[in-house]
Amino acid sequence: MRQNIVAGNWKMNKTLQEGVELAKELQKALHAEKPNCRVIIGTPFIHLSEVCKIVDPELIGVSAQNCADHESGAYTGEVSAEMVKSTGAEYVILGHSERRAYYHEDNAMLKTKTDLALKNGLTPIFCIGEVLEEREANKHFEIVKSQLEESLFHLSANDFKKMIIAYEPVWAIGTGKTATPEQAQEMHAFIRKTLAGKYGQEVADEISVLYGGSCKPSNAKELFANPDVDGGLIGGASLKADDFRGIIAAF
Ligand code: PGA
Repeated sequence: MRQNIVAGNWKMNKTLQEGVELAKELQKALHAEKPNCRVIIGTPFIHLSEVCKIVDPELIGVSAQNCADHESGAYTGEVSAEMVKSTGAEYVILGHSERRAYYHEDNAMLKTKTDLALKNGLTPIFCIGEVLEEREANKHFEIVKSQLEESLFHLSANDFKKMIIAYEPVWAIGTGKTATPEQAQEMHAFIRKTLAGKYGQEVADEISVLYGGSCKPSNAKELFANPDVDGGLIGGASLKADDFRGIIAAF
């Protein structure tokens, strides 16, 4: 079901103790404030199980930031989708541009990770987006389309409906340079049209498509006001309860 979502991506920040504190602070504040959207926090692996004990799952969903591309076995240092699920987490961020750029995750590997996440009952928050050179060369639509096609378009309509898509122009991540509301809407509409072309309008209309990249309390409202922008994936501004609450309050 399409819903408005504000999802935090803590990345590699916060010790276990600091993460627990932030989760407690958010739980307390959001319990009182009653947000008008689904709230998710994406924590490092080691925080998942503790954070799941702190938050009310109806109020705050918990997400991993990655999972392995194998089911189990001799893959030192990896964490499987099944392990993520066993912590109580419900979501997993896949295909973040930092994973694509620094850990060489390509569309084929992300296809496997998506399958394993779905098989284990996790909801993927699947990130797509172009780098600056691709936008400057006017290739951004083509890139986003191929990311969808190569990693996700093997899914059945039923499985596809379980996905959350996050459009994150790489040039806007952590740079302070946000896409304009017009640029975000233009790409989100393109994504929805591409989904409709493959799965039909009804399925496309059921998918939440989030925007990510330097989203903050001061710009969230105008980004989320666009008809095809169903919320945000928030990096830096998810690390402080007040900033994150400010973005949630945009709904
Ligand atoms: P940012 O990160 O909000 O710090 O730009 C967004 C993301 O990488 O998901």
